[in-house]
Amino acid sequence: MEVWAIANQKGGVGKTTTTIAVADALITRHQRVLLLDLDPQGSLTSYLQLDPDLVENTSYDLFDQVDRIQPKETGFDNLHIVGASVGPANLEKRASSLKGKGLVLNRWLDAQKEHYDYVLIDTPPALGMLMINALAACDQLLIPVQTDYLALKGLERMIKVLDMLGKSGRFIHYTLVPTMFDQRTNASTRTLEFLKNKYSDQLWSGVIPVDTKLREASRLGVPPSFLFAGSHGVLAYAALTDSLTGKLIEYA
Ligand SMILES: Nc1ncnc2c1ncn2[C@@H]1O[C@H](COP(=O)(O)OP(=O)(O)O)[C@@H](O)[C@H]1O
Ligand SMILES: [Mg+2]
Repeated sequence: MEVWAIANQKGGVGKTTTTIAVADALITRHQRVLLLDLDPQGSLTSYLQLDPDLVENTSYDLFDQVDRIQPKETGFDNLHIVGASVGPANLEKRASSLKGKGLVLNRWLDAQKEHYDYVLIDTPPALGMLMINALAACDQLLIPVQTDYLALKGLERMIKVLDMLGKSGRFIHYTLVPTMFDQRTNASTRTLEFLKNKYSDQLWSGVIPVDTKLREASRLGVPPSFLFAGSHGVLAYAALTDSLTGKLIEYA
């Protein structure tokens, strides 16, 4: 079982879309996938038409009732989820107040090993304890980067955190995924150029284009390939997934 976290402390860059679209490509390739929604806003949970206000057994409980958590079916084969609930209590606070917090998630994930090929963790847009938990638990990290000037500042901070973790012995293999790329705009092409110059080793060689079909799929609550199999966005996420799984096989 491989655990992939999808993180960037900036919101609206395509984390949740990347999580569902990569999961979609994996289940299409007959892999068993567990989604873990660590974002208290519950976007991934709502995407799959579970009501974040009503779900029980959520990732929220991971931090104190870990043994009780059971993934739920999503209605799509080989795709299960531990949803997030937008509970009254503050998940971020709870995660930070626990002892041994970095390990809670690892321990629970260990118990899932027989059941899944991949676990994808969607994270909130904050460099807080929830993201740190996800980073502590993952085998590799995907960082969606919106191809827009404003994206770069946040990215630098994120990479500083990864460097710090690396120095403390927790080296995380990460891949930058340029998202919402629009080749007609200067902002997109220049941002991509910058990423190529500065982060060539960590940058995925493709791009995820702007594709309204991805937004449409999210509105309809369906993994994108189920409705728009040939669309540019779906094809790009399939290529990304193949390059990521290929990499892991090479490393094995
Ligand atoms: N490649 C894309 N093309 C068009 N719209 C996209 C694309 N990726 C994401 N979106 C849309 O942009 C918004 C933010 O994406 P989301 O995945 O929710 O970001 P995050 O999880 O980082 O906040 C959503 O409305 C989503 O449908
Ligand atoms: Mg999100």
